[in-house]
Amino acid sequence: MTSNINRLVLMLVSFGCASLLYGQVPAAPLIAQTPLPWAFALNTPGLNIPIDDGQPKHVPNSTLAFVFTTPRNLYNPPDWHPADHPAMPPIVASGRNPGVFACAYCHLPNAQGRPENASLAGLPADYIMQQMRDYRAGLRKSSEPQMGPPANMLIVGMTATEAEAAEAATYFSSLTLQPWIRVIETDTVPETVISGSMFIEKEGGSMEALGNRIVEMPEDLELTELRDSHSGFIAYVPVGSIERGKALAAGTGDLTPPCAFCHGDTLQGLGPIPALAGRSPSYIARQLWDLKMGNRKGLWSPLMAAVVANLTPDNIVDIAAYTASLEP
Ligand code: HEC
Ligand code: HEC
Repeated sequence: MTSNINRLVLMLVSFGCASLLYGQVPAAPLIAQTPLPWAFALNTPGLNIPIDDGQPKHVPNSTLAFVFTTPRNLYNPPDWHPADHPAMPPIVASGRNPGVFACAYCHLPNAQGRPENASLAGLPADYIMQQMRDYRAGLRKSSEPQMGPPANMLIVGMTATEAEAAEAATYFSSLTLQPWIRVIETDTVPETVISGSMFIEKEGGSMEALGNRIVEMPEDLELTELRDSHSGFIAYVPVGSIERGKALAAGTGDLTPPCAFCHGDTLQGLGPIPALAGRSPSYIARQLWDLKMGNRKGLWSPLMAAVVANLTPDNIVDIAAYTASLEP
């Protein structure tokens, strides 16, 4: 049964229908499967997908021009700033059809990532390899199967070979994560809708209470839609969350062991253990929840068991606000 579904998905993607899967635009509201709907973002029903107009596009500090298609071609991502990273191996730049969409399409050529996926820049190669093995073995799934991008990563992860993963891991681990997310403590945020699994400002909306969640949005929606790898994000976080997250991460109150013990003093990673500092709070929150729910159960996941056991959704808001606020 599962393998039939996989085959169907592969057929769809090989006919270039990947964006249909990627850009899921449901007709009716989906019912969120997790208590963290700000991290596992489901598209607002009834929004119109922007139609690309076939005209060449430009972004600041790049002499290049790209023409986009609807649906977007997941095997042909734009590389606006080729000088800011080494040459990409083919699997990163263009993937392998069918099923291994170009890594750079979602993670960006410099692997800074976006809220609906993950930064990969500077992650240890051994760690990336282990994650790709976990995906291949079906040990790493999302707690929100209706969210498009993690579902697409599942396809990539199950399809990419060990050799392809190694090429990508060598490349991504050679990069350095740059500051990318501006964290702002606030009580109120612009009203938002969710498009492309990302929070964006509601047209004609006003302000609303942030409450106990994080809202991560593009600094410049147009540049983010053009996949400009120099245009970052803002994370609005609750007032006081960074201090509370710092105390939790230090192991104060015995809710969790200190993160620094394994993730390094500055949370910038240690040996094969990944960095947390300066990474997307939406991504960090999804992973804590997936680990807690047992949807992420890779070879190394048991090391996180005691960490996530007692964490509540509110604790996860605080920890993710804190880690995002740190220097990458
Ligand atoms: C269609 C979009 C998409 C493409 C293409 C894609 N990824 Fe991903 N990737 C994601 C998403 C989304 C996540 C985060 C999943 C989640 O939040 O649970 C992710 C997560 C990952 C992670 C886990 C990061 C971590 O810190 O644990 C690795 C490793 C990874 N991707 C590698 C790759 C490689 C290698 C390729 C190319 C062969 C690739 N990805 C292509 C969307 C994509
Ligand atoms: C005993 C060692 C250990 C401690 C302590 C620890 N971690 Fe981890 N952490 C790991 C390992 C190992 C992984 C990789 C898990 C896997 O491969 O599934 C990981 C993964 C993660 C991830 C997923 C990262 C990614 O790129 O996907 C997050 C988020 C995380 N840890 C947060 C924390 C936080 C927050 C704390 C402290 C509250 C913490 N960890 C404490 C060992 C640890």
